[in-house]
Amino acid sequence: MPNLPLPAGFIFGMSTSAYQVEGAVKEDGKGPSAWDWATRQPGGTTDGSTADITDLQYYLYKLDVARMANLGINAHSFSISWARIYPFGAADSPVNQAGIQHYSDMIDYHLQMGVQPIVTLFHWDTPLALVAYYGGFTSPQIVGDFVNYAKTVFEAYKGRVTTWYTFNEPRVFCAQIATYPFNISLAAGVNSTTAPFQCSYNVVKAHVAVVKAFREMGIPGEIAYKNDDFVGTPWRANSTDDIEAVERHTAFQIGVFSEPIYGTGNWPQIMLDTLPPSFLPRFTPEEIAENKGTADFYAIDDYRDQYIAAPPEGLAACINNMTDPNWPQCNQLVQYDVNGWSVGPNPDPDSTSWLQSTPQNLRYSLQQLQARWPTTKIYISEFGFDEPYEANRTDLYLITEDVTRTNYYMTYLGEALLSIYADGIPLMGTFAWSIVDNAEWNYGFSARFGIQYLNHTTLTRTPKRSAFALSQFFAAHLQKNATVNP
Ligand code: BGC
Repeated sequence: MPNLPLPAGFIFGMSTSAYQVEGAVKEDGKGPSAWDWATRQPGGTTDGSTADITDLQYYLYKLDVARMANLGINAHSFSISWARIYPFGAADSPVNQAGIQHYSDMIDYHLQMGVQPIVTLFHWDTPLALVAYYGGFTSPQIVGDFVNYAKTVFEAYKGRVTTWYTFNEPRVFCAQIATYPFNISLAAGVNSTTAPFQCSYNVVKAHVAVVKAFREMGIPGEIAYKNDDFVGTPWRANSTDDIEAVERHTAFQIGVFSEPIYGTGNWPQIMLDTLPPSFLPRFTPEEIAENKGTADFYAIDDYRDQYIAAPPEGLAACINNMTDPNWPQCNQLVQYDVNGWSVGPNPDPDSTSWLQSTPQNLRYSLQQLQARWPTTKIYISEFGFDEPYEANRTDLYLITEDVTRTNYYMTYLGEALLSIYADGIPLMGTFAWSIVDNAEWNYGFSARFGIQYLNHTTLTRTPKRSAFALSQFFAAHLQKNATVNP
């Protein structure tokens, strides 16, 4: 589609996160995060690695940002490590000036290179001290500490950063902290079953309070959080159970953090009907009013969009039985169609299991978002793919020939163009995950998402085929001399 330009101001972005790329984990006054601790627990990562060094972007950021500029990338969405700004996390604990200065220098370098810096305040790396004090995000005490941290960051970087995110994928984060090893440090009265919902409540409260502070402080720019997941398609097109299962999946996976902010201000009705208040705290009428409208745009980490089916025991049997293994969601994700064909190319089977390349569903995915939670601007705040068997390869020429990832990006971007032109979706930016291979949480380095290969001995970054494909796609479709600021 060579004749379809992207809208003026469209962002060709890349995403990273502090824990996954920075390394320098004990340097310049940084406190430990919950993930620094988790990777040291037995079985914390599948390959036994930590992110103590990873890409060493804390020191090598100029290398990465210069490479971005050379590839024509015009924005970098990165996160700030809370434990670098407040090593102990708490509002009444000392600020670490070296941490403030580091991100200040890094932001300036981005601006100098013409790469817009976009900041996420929280990408899962809770200061460990707050987990030890009160159970991190499973306690409502976190709200005040998070607002204090956010205000410090807004004050330090306002004007230089104009697109902000409060949280990365709160739904994934709140599920994660209910599992080992995080579930050994929950707040009093919270257990692994209730933790995701108590966390969801505290995250919404923290997000809303931070956006209120952002607006009261008159910080120029836009703010939202990065949602994840998708609505999904009924596995058996004519099955009323599968159609209802899609609604259950939507409520629990994407509605949970969309409905309070972009919809009614309250939790999705299906969650309210399923979960007692001892699991999911209820919002008061005042809180519902405060929640609504606390985002300036909708950001979606749109990696995939798969089939959803009713659980094998049937919907009614599941919904009415709290001991059913599929309760409370009572739906299943299916990765193949009714004839047995895979929904799309599959990722590295040694690591990632949730992902498939599903460009054919991208337009539907964005249409569903726009129909359910309408907005004037959408960013695909992350999308990406881990190439099958890449981590098993040692020859560089085999690693850099990342054909499935390249195909993923090109087909998704083709569909993104059609979303804009044929469907009228207000898509204004896409952020590929990620500029270089990095520490993929509990998979360590066994799952690779980089458009550049990382040599762990020399820390050299080598572009893969997908880096050039992305660069060429945007060179062909971006309008020249358009400003990327909101
Ligand atoms: C997360 C990233 C992660 C990526 C690939 C997203 O869910 O925000 O931190 O590395 O997916 O799994």
